[in-house]
Amino acid sequence: MEFRSLVESRSSVRTYQKKPVEEEKLNYVLECARLAPSWANGQCWRFVVIRDPDVRKKVAATSLLNRWLKTAPVILVACADPKESGTRNGLHYFCVDVGIAFEHIVLAAADVGLGTCWLGAFDEKQVKTVLGIPKQIRVVALSPLGYPAKRTSLFGKIIKTIARSKRRKPLEDFVHYDHW
Ligand SMILES: Cc1cc2nc3c(=O)[nH]c(=O)nc-3n(C[C@H](O)[C@H](O)[C@H](O)COP(=O)(O)O)c2cc1C
Repeated sequence: MEFRSLVESRSSVRTYQKKPVEEEKLNYVLECARLAPSWANGQCWRFVVIRDPDVRKKVAATSLLNRWLKTAPVILVACADPKESGTRNGLHYFCVDVGIAFEHIVLAAADVGLGTCWLGAFDEKQVKTVLGIPKQIRVVALSPLGYPAKRTSLFGKIIKTIARSKRRKPLEDFVHYDHW
């Protein structure tokens, strides 16, 4: 898809079809994450791909807000090994590295007709316990992956309204030229 159309077509999807995600599409989105830039090319990202319905249910249960997550055929858990990234000016770049790679996944998914939704509302400790994630690894984000349902659930519509998801600030609110 042409880049501008791709960016415009992406939106957070919270209602999914049961249809499984094809192996080739899953590999395509993961491959796009693999090509992301990172701090000193450290590639600190790690991804857990959850397809098992019982595991999906357990992970979804770690977030009151995002219980609907279990209905997606795949859950992606984006993690980082902070030792493979850096810190400068008090900023921990493992979040940036994983953020870039995860957004590659999000855009690649939209490119092949799959929905995603960045999720930050989860209990990291519980997610790590459910998935057996080692102590030194951080969980940065979760996302469902699957085919968007033809009709958005009422809950999905409510969240979009509360989050005012279509609203974006105009450029003049956040771009400064030459000086702040
Ligand atoms: C870091 C981050 C965390 C988010 N956490 C959640 C979340 O826990 N639950 C949820 O339903 N949406 C979550 N979202 C999705 C945002 O609400 C959504 O991106 C925003 O409303 C804009 O809507 P759009 O993605 O449809 O364009 C998160 C997005 C980001 C980038």
